[in-house]
Amino acid sequence: MGELLRIDHVSYNYHSLEGETPALADVSLHVNDGEFLAIVGPSGCGKSTLLSLIAGLINPDTGGIYINDKDIKSSGKNIGYMLQKDHLLEWRSTLRNLTLGLEIQHKLTENSYVLINDMLTTYGLVTFKDAKPSELSGGMRQRAALIRTLLLEPDILLLDEPFSALDYQTRIEVSDDIWGIIRKEKKTAILITHDISEPIYTKIFIKTLFYNIHHFLSIAYNNKKI
Ligand SMILES: Nc1ncnc2c1ncn2[C@@H]1O[C@H](COP(=O)(O)OP(=O)(O)OP(=O)(O)O)[C@@H](O)[C@H]1O
Ligand SMILES: [Mg+2]
Repeated sequence: MGELLRIDHVSYNYHSLEGETPALADVSLHVNDGEFLAIVGPSGCGKSTLLSLIAGLINPDTGGIYINDKDIKSSGKNIGYMLQKDHLLEWRSTLRNLTLGLEIQHKLTENSYVLINDMLTTYGLVTFKDAKPSELSGGMRQRAALIRTLLLEPDILLLDEPFSALDYQTRIEVSDDIWGIIRKEKKTAILITHDISEPIYTKIFIKTLFYNIHHFLSIAYNNKKI
């Protein structure tokens, strides 16, 4: 299991008219191919900023982010980013929400529909494929959002607090579901949470990676290939 992603001494500050907000200071970590990493930390410690940096939406002030030793922008790798809110479009059916990313990338083919149908069946959504998002439960919506992200065949999957909108009971069920899906699809994934119990439900170990005066992050690694 080789190294896939390396974050090397990355710092990032937000700038506004009011001044500068330090978000991340000197963060280094790596993720191996096929590994599942959970990042745990309190609100404001820089978790979403870290994912936005990995997704290439913002650039580090110092340090670098590499995939297979290449800068993320030139690595040619696909990064899937699943946000806390599922962003399913109410005027589209479940099926047409799933095809959206492929449509935008002009990659929707007959084969895609076969694959989508398989995934809808595997993940218990096939009878809801013509339903509108408002007719789905919270857990179903999260599964639909994950399938939509997976259809774009990401090399790395980024999940920003994907369960936080769910009640406690549903969160336990859905986090187990989502964990199962990621393991089945053999994805390298980074999950962000501020709920320390979440990665425990997904059976991964936690260790504190770094601490500084303003912020801290704890990092949980699974110790075996998934
Ligand atoms: N667009 C922005 N402009 C200015 N400051 C920002 C911006 N986004 C985040 N910040 C600041 O950067 C720091 C880190 O924010 P970030 O959103 O990464 O935290 P987080 O760990 O994801 O928090 P949460 O758990 O609440 O989602 C915070 O102090 C926040 O106020
Ligand atoms: Mg956040």
